[in-house]
Amino acid sequence: MAAQLHIGMSLSPTWLSGEGWRRPDSGVEGLYGADFALDVARRAEAAHLDFVFRPDTLYLDRAMVETGPGFGALDPTLLMAALARETAHIGLLTTVSTTFWPPYVVARQLQSLNWLSGGRAGWNIVTALDGQRNFGMEAMPDAAARYARAEEFVDLVKKLWASYPAEALLADRGTGRYGDAALVQPVSHRGESFAVEGPLNLPDPGYGPMPLVQAGASERGRDFAAAVADAIFASSPDRGVAADLRADLRARAVRQGRAADAIRVLPGLSLYLAGSRAEARDLHAATYARVNRARKLASVREMTGLDLESWPGDRPITAADLPPMPAAPRSRTHAELLRRMILREAPTPDELMTRPEVMASGHWQIVGTPAEAADEIAAWHAAGAIDGVVLLPGGSAGSMHLSLEALVPELAGRGLFRQGYSGRSFRGHLEESRKPEAA
Ligand SMILES: Cc1cc2nc3c(=O)[nH]c(=O)nc-3n(C[C@H](O)[C@H](O)[C@H](O)COP(=O)(O)O)c2cc1C
Repeated sequence: MAAQLHIGMSLSPTWLSGEGWRRPDSGVEGLYGADFALDVARRAEAAHLDFVFRPDTLYLDRAMVETGPGFGALDPTLLMAALARETAHIGLLTTVSTTFWPPYVVARQLQSLNWLSGGRAGWNIVTALDGQRNFGMEAMPDAAARYARAEEFVDLVKKLWASYPAEALLADRGTGRYGDAALVQPVSHRGESFAVEGPLNLPDPGYGPMPLVQAGASERGRDFAAAVADAIFASSPDRGVAADLRADLRARAVRQGRAADAIRVLPGLSLYLAGSRAEARDLHAATYARVNRARKLASVREMTGLDLESWPGDRPITAADLPPMPAAPRSRTHAELLRRMILREAPTPDELMTRPEVMASGHWQIVGTPAEAADEIAAWHAAGAIDGVVLLPGGSAGSMHLSLEALVPELAGRGLFRQGYSGRSFRGHLEESRKPEAA
């Protein structure tokens, strides 16, 4: 029996990027309040999604403020706490960087969200790409140093969660014993990056291990994900990339003594959905109509070392044109995806401007009707390329509504996704993945 898909919904909100926020129905004025995200979370919960998710950064690109909200956003963990009171089933996946925060604070915030939501908290672990100057660092530590710190960080957070176990909480009115202090133990951690005494000042609520998601798919990132994560949020612009990544991560998990399906590959899926294919194409074209070409070419240069400033728009870029990979790209994952595409397809600069590797953080993209999107998702699933997706609807609020109210029910109708929740914890949704009787 094939496992069903796991589906998450980004609250990013990707459907407001490009021209999306300018539409009359975008609701952009409400972006920094709880109701905006709550509307999406309620729709996602009505579709029985595994989780809602907020990516996050800790810096602001000033130039981007001119043209759209970008990553200017509420703190994701506080936002999830607001959603926790108003939802009952859906997982709440927040993003917290291991590069900037102290582990004790992170362990406590995530466990607080877990209590407030009744076991629905999840942690998207990122090592971050920028923002060092907001934390007293001149240069960003390189990826290897960030991953070394991340490994110690996650290990320490787990030890802190275990330091005040659920069984230690007695609240026994008869005996007057509130807790069993013998079960509450310091962690006495002295490591390369952190020294933390513990224990955590908050008990484990007893819902099982909190789901951990990781983003970043370099060699080091994959090893890290295979060791600790329940899922990887992936950038997989084509099915081959996704299938390779999934096979590789499963093998790495087994080498680390875990089951192959302990790690799930969930690519971001950028969706431009409409009632007809032509309308969907128009939506996509309108969203990218105002693209800042100079900024995109600068990002191609950062990722590949290739300067396309004076390159004719219609001249193909071949393998011979590619300089060696830059020593330290901001994200090796994204740089490698772009390189792989150039080597495979020899695109022109004009073609690059339509490609997800340049335009959409390397995410898989579908432009069409909900039924066409369901066909493609089903094909990737059947090919063993994915365990699920993170929905990143683009273009308009309408595209977001169709993702949740047409595409997901279509997948459920085909037996590829749940028809209802069987439990209330995020861990439970991830573990419940057997296919029911075909409808
Ligand atoms: C799909 C994807 C999503 C990411 N999301 C975030 C994010 O929300 N916030 C962040 O600070 N970094 C994010 N990152 C950056 C990673 O955490 C990591 O720092 C970066 O990819 C470098 O690791 P790598 O060499 O393994 O690619 C993301 C990376 C990928 C591939």
